[in-house]
Amino acid sequence: MNADFITVSSPEIAVKFLKDQDIVFSSRPDVLSADITSRGYLTTALSPLGGQWKKMRRVLASDVLSTARHRWLQGKRTEEADHLVRGRERGACSHVDALFKILAYLFSFCVSDFLPFLRGHLDLDGHEKIVRTATATMAKYQDPEIDKRIRQWIESTKTEQEDLLDVLIGLKENDGTPLLSPDEIKAQIVELMLATVDNPSNAVEWAIAEMINEPATLERATEVLDRVVGKERLVQESDLSQLNFVKSCMRESFRLHPIAPFNVPHVSTVNATVAGYLIPKGSRVLLSRPGLGRNPRVWDEPRTPVQTRAPQGGRLQCGAHRPYLKMLSFRTGRRGCAGANLGSTMTAMLMARLLQAFSWELPSTVAKIELKESAGDLFLAEPLYVKAQPRLAEALYHQL
Ligand code: HEM
Repeated sequence: MNADFITVSSPEIAVKFLKDQDIVFSSRPDVLSADITSRGYLTTALSPLGGQWKKMRRVLASDVLSTARHRWLQGKRTEEADHLVRGRERGACSHVDALFKILAYLFSFCVSDFLPFLRGHLDLDGHEKIVRTATATMAKYQDPEIDKRIRQWIESTKTEQEDLLDVLIGLKENDGTPLLSPDEIKAQIVELMLATVDNPSNAVEWAIAEMINEPATLERATEVLDRVVGKERLVQESDLSQLNFVKSCMRESFRLHPIAPFNVPHVSTVNATVAGYLIPKGSRVLLSRPGLGRNPRVWDEPRTPVQTRAPQGGRLQCGAHRPYLKMLSFRTGRRGCAGANLGSTMTAMLMARLLQAFSWELPSTVAKIELKESAGDLFLAEPLYVKAQPRLAEALYHQL
């Protein structure tokens, strides 16, 4: 199989792909890792353009990630934010490891993607086995719970919706039959976990590491939290509208430290001409996220977070109405992030809680954190190892 790959780091060209000709470049590639993970393209983010993508994207937009659903789930998000401050036992390691394994292999180079007749027959680079094992591990933990819940609804031993799984099971066609099959529910839940698990923690880990190296910024963020929230209660989602400085630190972390070097691939559905070049149907367009977010043509001091430069903080412009795309953190075009609201709320709360509830210091043996990316991805090369001391009244941590 032949495929043209087009990598884009020019903000002017990026806007042509993701805005001007968005409709042409809105499909996804058929690759082994995505095929296995989505159980044959039953999901949203991994599915090529078509009926299944439309159906699942509609389900996410109206029933899973809508504003009303976001409000409905606020209590559950607060529970999780409280767990963060109280400390909590980790879930089963192999479950979480499997999730990260899938993320590491999704859309990575795999021989069987270029010689598709190998699929299911000869796994030359071992890729297929790794992805199949990881998805089987996820299924081992999740599927029995999902099957049990479906049975409870069929047998009417459950009648009240309490979480997103109940919502997905409860969706109906016009004739009253279930809208989603058990496989669609199982695959979509894995995809939602993949979409959510690493972006917030990566952005916050980098932001806190950078702030510890710049104590004035760390001080300013905690001062803002103390002024807006005080020290008698924990920061809540309702405070976020007044925490622009904390949110600007978060946005800068997304700009400077995207989770992956490239955006999820976009595929062209017809021949097209972009910036004078013929792009054949089926080409894969890979937008370089650091190429945009750290591009010196559109960012002053591209490698320095804005909050360590501009004393007033404030909103960053993401170029939505400009003839270029300055960064890509969430949404641009029809394939843009379906969970932007949830993702930014989770990330801002994670950051605000960690900054408010703990003071952060380097261990005495370390002079400065080495802000280096790992060789194989854009995570910090070494996990952040610092001292976190409670900075609020002790009772607040115990009452959770
Ligand atoms: C901080 C967190 C997040 C960041 C930075 C982020 C970023 C992104 C990006 C860059 C894309 C690809 C856009 C493209 O293809 O051009 C994307 C797609 C997507 N995201 Fe997010 N995301 C986040 C959180 C979430 C959450 C919490 C959910 C849902 C629970 C979610 C659901 C999705 C879905 C379903 C797509 C695929 C949309 C489609 O192909 O139609 N994301 N996200």
